[in-house]
Amino acid sequence: MAARIIDGKAAALALRERIAERVSELKNTKGITPGLAVVLVGEDPASQIYVRNKGIACQKAGMHSETIILPAETTQDELEERIRELNEDPEIHGVLIQLPLPRHLNEEKALAVISPEKDVDGFHPVNAGRLLAGQNTVSPCTPKGVMHLLDIAGVELEGKEAVVIGRSNIVGKPMALMLLQRNCTVTICHSRTADLRSHTRRADILISAIGKPGFVTADMVKTGAAVIDVGINRVDGKVCGDVDYAAVQEIAGWLTPVPGGVGPMTIAMLLMNTLEAAERSLNE
Ligand code: GUN
Repeated sequence: MAARIIDGKAAALALRERIAERVSELKNTKGITPGLAVVLVGEDPASQIYVRNKGIACQKAGMHSETIILPAETTQDELEERIRELNEDPEIHGVLIQLPLPRHLNEEKALAVISPEKDVDGFHPVNAGRLLAGQNTVSPCTPKGVMHLLDIAGVELEGKEAVVIGRSNIVGKPMALMLLQRNCTVTICHSRTADLRSHTRRADILISAIGKPGFVTADMVKTGAAVIDVGINRVDGKVCGDVDYAAVQEIAGWLTPVPGGVGPMTIAMLLMNTLEAAERSLNE
């Protein structure tokens, strides 16, 4: 059986078109333009590319975009002061701190300074807590993108076994909570999990967010499973995911490619979260 390939690039494009329409409607009917501020500290080359792409995506959707680039030696106080200014800025509805921050800065403290209403990453403890409690809240962009891909592919979730490999605050943990919210039976596996294969082989939905090329092999996958590859790895200059794509394609029922799978959905969901933050600001 050859897996159905879930085209994240096409899905993201379609979503971004719908977002652009809603942005235009918001401008015409309410006179507000959704605005996103992205804060980058230092000169990490990968982060520079991500930040630039976020700015371009905003502009294409008709949104207002600000990129704040701070020197690598910025202090915690200086960073937090800049965030407070953005919290007060009426043209800005979403604030994102590009991670990772330089090592001398406290990521957790910085994220907690963002106003929960402007936290378009869903990383603020208030929003993370709301997600845990099953309340309506802003969800982290990458797992939100994964849920969208599962839905448009028609993967049934109710009562199914979902296994998430990876327990990061950005992907693994919120991913598990969002699958739980949709009535999956969820297992979170990680680097210390004993006999990982015994868990993954039970999965109807297998999500890999571990960051190791070729980590998920065909013998770890249940026949017909939906396999979602969140990994972004570079091997010999080429981007690849965590999944042994060629072999798993023969076993899985659905599979996301890398590139062109989950990656494009992350930016689309960031735009969606910014749009929704702008819409919510009207009701405050
Ligand atoms: N760095 C890698 N992924 C992310 C993300 O989703 N949000 C932020 N803010 N930084 C990241």
